[in-house]
Amino acid sequence: MDSIRIRGGIPLNGVIPISGAKNAALPLMAATLLSAETLTLRNLPHLVDITTMANLLASHGVALHMNGNASGQACGGRVLELTTAAITNTTAHYDLVRKMRASILVLGPILAREGKARVSLPGGCAIGARPVDLHLKALEQMGAKISIDGGYVDATVDGRLKGAHLVFPQVTVTGTENLLMAATLADGETIIDNAAREPEVADLANCLIAMGAEIEGVGSSRLVVRGKDALHGATHAVLPDRIEAGSYAVAAAITRGSVTLQNADAAQMSALIKVLIAAGVEVEDRAEGLWVSAAGRTIKGVDVMTEPHPGFPTDMQAQVMALFATAEGASMMTETIFENRFMHVPELKRMGADINIHNNSAIVRGVAKLSGAPVMATDLRASMSLVLAALAAAGETTIARVYHLDRGYERLEQKLAACGADVERLRD
Ligand code: UD1
Repeated sequence: MDSIRIRGGIPLNGVIPISGAKNAALPLMAATLLSAETLTLRNLPHLVDITTMANLLASHGVALHMNGNASGQACGGRVLELTTAAITNTTAHYDLVRKMRASILVLGPILAREGKARVSLPGGCAIGARPVDLHLKALEQMGAKISIDGGYVDATVDGRLKGAHLVFPQVTVTGTENLLMAATLADGETIIDNAAREPEVADLANCLIAMGAEIEGVGSSRLVVRGKDALHGATHAVLPDRIEAGSYAVAAAITRGSVTLQNADAAQMSALIKVLIAAGVEVEDRAEGLWVSAAGRTIKGVDVMTEPHPGFPTDMQAQVMALFATAEGASMMTETIFENRFMHVPELKRMGADINIHNNSAIVRGVAKLSGAPVMATDLRASMSLVLAALAAAGETTIARVYHLDRGYERLEQKLAACGADVERLRD
């Protein structure tokens, strides 16, 4: 397995192009299952999770055609055409689903279009139990009959799904996306209350509207969908990745450098930007991109609590914790979305960080300098927090299990090296 070696202590300076958002691209790709016509997605990131979703969709009969890079695009995103003339197989097999939880996103569209779907349960995940009970309960409310059999969700419906008033007891991003897609082909009106307000949900809704869906309340916690008999083709550009942008903003801050994040959308990053500014980082939304600088600044610890959007994203918690491990003073980081999302803490401590966990909070006391060490992480964002800590640490750090990073960060080493980082991928 590949690893990444970083020699730390160099302030990052330069420009980093931000890719299309992984968490928007995955549901957008699944949306092809709702229409017999071609869906063209632009600005798609080149990531392992995208390939996993492409393989899953191909197993359902989707024809995929990669059109290379779109000319003139700042971040060189890929263009993918997806056509589902017919769904040839309604079963999503375990060997594909187990690689990525977001595979559950095929359930709603296949059930809505074919009246039946059999999807392997995604199973446990390093960052918590992450069940899909809320997806299933909401589909049942729309008339689906659901049973669990041999590790698979078996869903059927007589005729079409029926519009319903759905109230999610807890905000769920992929749950909202699954039900939003299902509702576009349902009979009658569906109201989704306590819908996730993440920008990726709005991006999906806008694409579905371009495909002919009728949706009101995009970006709000109440989505109203009037079902159609069929959707048509469309072209849609994936929005920029706010978590990738946020991670590189922290890279600038933790190395006390200055970077411009080309194509980053500051409006989607307001909770993170607020925390960075409170910590002493300079952030300016400029014409050429989001400028983030900590050059010559003293960084102070700030208390942070993760919340559904527009609150502080759980997907940025690990990276910001690495920053505060090098800050002046203490900060308390509270994780409210996932029950087991502090796996980076023991590894950061091996690099000299002073962090104590109390239930779902971590007290981080900044140290003058982290030191390089061999480390590894068990999920995507935790791995990124170790990369960030390594960029600031004295000496050499080797981060094992790079496949986690390859799931979510496109051309990570190249983007960091272009800003002066001493980083190298060691191939096995
Ligand atoms: C999505 C993101 C992930 C991010 C997370 C929270 C994608 C592909 N992934 O994951 O990067 O960290 O949102 O912003 O977009 N829950 C249940 N039952 C359910 C569904 C969820 O109990 O049926 C719980 C989960 O265990 C978790 C919380 O609800 O504690 C939020 O999960 P959810 O928003 O569904 O996360 P994902 O959509 O899986």
